[in-house]
Amino acid sequence: MIVDILEIKDRILELENIFPNVFSVGGIENDLSNNPFTHYLVYLKDNKILGFINYYDIYDRIEIANFNVLDEYQNKGIGNKLLKRVVELSTNKENITLEVRCDNEKAIHLYEKYGFIKKATRKNYYNGVDGILMELELGIMEDIYVLGIESSCDETSFSIVKNGVLEIATVISSQIDIHKDYGGVVPEIASRAHAKNITFVIEELLEKAKMTMDDIDMVAVANGPGLIGSLLVGLEAAKTIAWLYNKPLIPVHHIAGHIYANNLVKRLEFPLLCLVISGGHTELIFMDKDYSFKKLGGTLDDAVGECYDKVGKVLGVEYPAGPKIDKMAKEGTHRYQLPLPLNDDSYNFSFSGLKSAVINLVHNEEQRGNVINKEDLATSFQETVVDILAKKTVHAIVNYNVKNLILAGGVSANSGIRSRMEDICKSRNINFTCPEIKYCTDNAAMIAAAGYYAYLDGRRADFTLNGQSSMELK
Ligand code: KG4
Ligand code: ZN
Repeated sequence: MIVDILEIKDRILELENIFPNVFSVGGIENDLSNNPFTHYLVYLKDNKILGFINYYDIYDRIEIANFNVLDEYQNKGIGNKLLKRVVELSTNKENITLEVRCDNEKAIHLYEKYGFIKKATRKNYYNGVDGILMELELGIMEDIYVLGIESSCDETSFSIVKNGVLEIATVISSQIDIHKDYGGVVPEIASRAHAKNITFVIEELLEKAKMTMDDIDMVAVANGPGLIGSLLVGLEAAKTIAWLYNKPLIPVHHIAGHIYANNLVKRLEFPLLCLVISGGHTELIFMDKDYSFKKLGGTLDDAVGECYDKVGKVLGVEYPAGPKIDKMAKEGTHRYQLPLPLNDDSYNFSFSGLKSAVINLVHNEEQRGNVINKEDLATSFQETVVDILAKKTVHAIVNYNVKNLILAGGVSANSGIRSRMEDICKSRNINFTCPEIKYCTDNAAMIAAAGYYAYLDGRRADFTLNGQSSMELK
């Protein structure tokens, strides 16, 4: 575990005693109180201090001043972790510099692994031994352009995103108009429409981005979960482009994409909790770093978006019903009593009971000859949904002690859910992020953003990559 020395202030003397060749007694305290730029990160294992890194954060650059790991704990990756943390903390800086003894090959190699290069030699810098000035240029780190492809349901979408954060261009071709006559997505029609649209979408994207396939560094594709026939169309396009232009192929889980839609708004901060709410998913996910997902719980039956769409059917609202019910909910009052589904201490959800309760309520009122006030029912339904999502989310926030909450998936466009979550975070001093409304529902910008971090995580696929209708997020 890496901690800032300020979090374990009472152990400064201990740190000085462990590294007597580096510090004099009282030196760290002196440094901390006189130098506003100084920072110390300490590596702890089983509460024992094993190493530290001391650096200066000087406006637009970082200078590593001291870096040491106890002799008996060397070669165990501790130095690696400390250095990696400083590099991670320096993403908005111009460069990181440090001095190293010219005969310390091991350290030089470690720095080179992280992209440091030798800039200059300082003669006799270390009492007769030369020092080498090394620098990691952050400002000129090569840009990576990811082509993202999304076709898992009824949107054919392509996008180009730079370095996982900057959207260059996106094209989304939606099939909503085709499917709304059927009251939902018809898989066979969806895959045919993808096949028909896909080449036009690619052409339009390249035109919009003013780029060619040669400018792309890699291809990221959502290979599941989703409708298999639809997934395969995007997947074949991805493989063809990767093969033709000799680019790495990166598989992306559709929900990882939804989560990384937030990264296009604001760089994710960890640890975070994500409430995933879409047409096919309702889950609470914990992340302690990029591309690492821990599912805390999920729906036992219907997803929340699915519930919106089914409730929409009984209210006579056209597919997809979510946005329209959301609008109606703003105009009504919470008058109908509905059960709070799976109101327990787990992180799981259940929405089929709520859906049935709404259907039964409508039928009972109709049989009694009463007219349903659709706006009031929409409000009652939406508030019930918001209540249960909020309750479980707060429970996870408290138990996992997170300071960052994000929303993901099509239903995160919902105004009631967004404003309740925002209030919860404000009152608890927690950072809250949700995707831009246009990127709440399916799109390829989110796949390209996630693809960048999947790539950094070492994920690659070959041409045997297949689509999967259901697939665990890991
Ligand atoms: O994420 P998405 O595009 O597809 C899946 O991956 O499942 O989510 C689509 C779902 C639909 O069920 C739609 O009704 C719902 O998102 N939705 C909303 C809102 N906007 C879209 N649900 C509630 N309120 C909204 N404003
Ligand atoms: Zn989706």
